[in-house]
Amino acid sequence: MPSLLITNAVVVNEGRRFAADVLITDGRIAAVGGDLQSRPADRVMDAAGRLLLPGMIDDQVHFREPGVTYKADIASESRAAVAGGITSFMEMPNTRPPTLDAEQLAAKYARAAEVSRANYGFYLGASNDNIDAIRALPVGDACGVKVFMGASTGNMLVDDPQVLDAIFRDCPVIIATHCEDTPMILANEAEYRQRYGEDVPMAAHPLIRSEAACLKSSTLAVDLARRHDARLHVLHLTTARELALFAPGPIAGKRITVEACVHHLYFDERDYAEKGALIKCNPAIKRPEDRAALLGAIAEDRIDVIATDHAPHTLDEKAGKYFQAPAGLPLVQDALPSLFAHVQAGKLTLEQLVHKTSHAPAECFNVQERGYIREGYWADLVLVDADKPVTRTREQVLYKCGWSAFEGRELPATIAATIVNGEVAFENGRVNDAVRGQRLAFGPTR
Ligand code: DOR
Repeated sequence: MPSLLITNAVVVNEGRRFAADVLITDGRIAAVGGDLQSRPADRVMDAAGRLLLPGMIDDQVHFREPGVTYKADIASESRAAVAGGITSFMEMPNTRPPTLDAEQLAAKYARAAEVSRANYGFYLGASNDNIDAIRALPVGDACGVKVFMGASTGNMLVDDPQVLDAIFRDCPVIIATHCEDTPMILANEAEYRQRYGEDVPMAAHPLIRSEAACLKSSTLAVDLARRHDARLHVLHLTTARELALFAPGPIAGKRITVEACVHHLYFDERDYAEKGALIKCNPAIKRPEDRAALLGAIAEDRIDVIATDHAPHTLDEKAGKYFQAPAGLPLVQDALPSLFAHVQAGKLTLEQLVHKTSHAPAECFNVQERGYIREGYWADLVLVDADKPVTRTREQVLYKCGWSAFEGRELPATIAATIVNGEVAFENGRVNDAVRGQRLAFGPTR
């Protein structure tokens, strides 16, 4: 593999920011230093003072393959991911068929090896009747086990108390949960249907998928994890009230970690008026106070990871009324650029952004040799032009579904280049379709 020397970068890594050159050989970081310009390399890339970050590791995406590929597939969405500075993703099991056993998992890894432009890992899904597959899961064969403790796209609800107890007792790897109490949501839906018929306003979504429904379910997940000393990662937190369930401080030593997602940090309930069903997602985008509290909790290390929950649906589907329009929005291409808005607003530092999007997911999931700019690690890097805002237009969108909720919004930063295992996967607005990612290696997490 050709070597690559990146010169004149401002590296942001492990809490520090410094001017440096980075030499990459055989796909790995060979040297990081102040003066490597005399070192031989097949290609020299002048960073011209731009920011060089470890690539984002997105611990929650829905790429829809197999079975739902009219919305998205691994090839299309991994292209969008590298265009957004995401070098590794962990993909969710609510495909068709759902990923509930070793065979389905292996099929996803095989497909990703053929087509994925970014590095990949896959979750095993939990159901009310696959506890044997969960118990038998070898460490490293999945990034984690996903448990829908609230029903969402794909109907993978796990609501049998005995099964939940067994999962939290016996799961050999980290458990990632979707927390929303389904009986409460169904009762709210019935109430709104009675009031509005089929014409429920989109802005009612956070009242139907309510704060109380989130709190009840996340409280149950945390209680179960404590009872069984399980390793729990609560996905996409959306409310200020749930924050008290989680401890501030470093991940090391935590048995319970929690994630926030890009859209819950960027949008709030005022955006339903303009964006309608495009920002309908589960859990729902909630109040401005919740958004502010989530950002504050990231800054105090109470929220450990920032991810996307990239969940594409077609515009036709999104054109439906409240009960028909599916939940979820595509995000991987917009994630990092939109997060720079919080840096610009002084809510997060650059170092915190890098920590939450790269170091922290690597630590939570025990991803081997990635997530940091360290000599010997795989060269997964993103070069960001933080002084070049971009207004998202539909023409720029790479998602197979062909739209972005960020259209018309100015994002403060532009991804200049993305490097995956030492290969330039995206540069000057173009994806290099010859690049293939690697299977992520995971160490023990339980
Ligand atoms: O909004 C969502 N969409 N939340 C989920 O939990 C699932 C996702 C999807 O797969 O569409």
